[in-house]
Amino acid sequence: MNATWRTHLANEAATKRLAAGLASACMGLASIRPLMIFLEGDLGAGKTTLVRALVKSRGYRGRVKSPTYTLIESYTLGGTQVHHLDLYRVADAEELAYLGIRELVSEPGLCLVEWPQRGVGLLPAPDLRVLLTYVPGGREADVAAFTPAGCAVLDALGQPTGPD
Ligand SMILES: Nc1ncnc2c1ncn2[C@@H]1O[C@H](COP(=O)(O)OP(=O)(O)O)[C@@H](O)[C@H]1O
Ligand SMILES: [Mg+2]
Repeated sequence: MNATWRTHLANEAATKRLAAGLASACMGLASIRPLMIFLEGDLGAGKTTLVRALVKSRGYRGRVKSPTYTLIESYTLGGTQVHHLDLYRVADAEELAYLGIRELVSEPGLCLVEWPQRGVGLLPAPDLRVLLTYVPGGREADVAAFTPAGCAVLDALGQPTGPD
């Protein structure tokens, strides 16, 4: 069973392919249980790009807005809830209580959280963490699994694609 997975993302297209792979690996599980993914990495590393591509890869035709100001944007994709949170502007995790985060994370669905460290105390521990890092010639993606469900997603991701 994998616990970590790493790949080089040479360009935005590679980030989008990873997003589509992640969607395929996650959505079945997320339809029957809550699945929590923390997205980490500096500003501009590609966290929002990844979520946008994940949502679009499941057939969503509308605009996928960054939740920088709204904190959360939710989608129903093939009957499964997908929640995109960006906590960059959250000063106090208690602000999240008003968004109904506790209820939301206890129901089946996929939660993708940018800047999860701002939600410490309110967010449950993640099943997976995707860390995006600037490297010469693009980004590196490090995916780590912390629960059996997270490991199942990593296994479903298969072999890293490597440079392209
Ligand atoms: N693998 C990649 N290599 C180079 N540029 C990328 C890659 N993936 C995404 N980008 C670009 O980097 C930027 C990421 O922005 P964004 O997704 O808003 O970052 P974040 O949400 O992490 O702050 C976008 O301009 C996107 O086109
Ligand atoms: Mg972002």
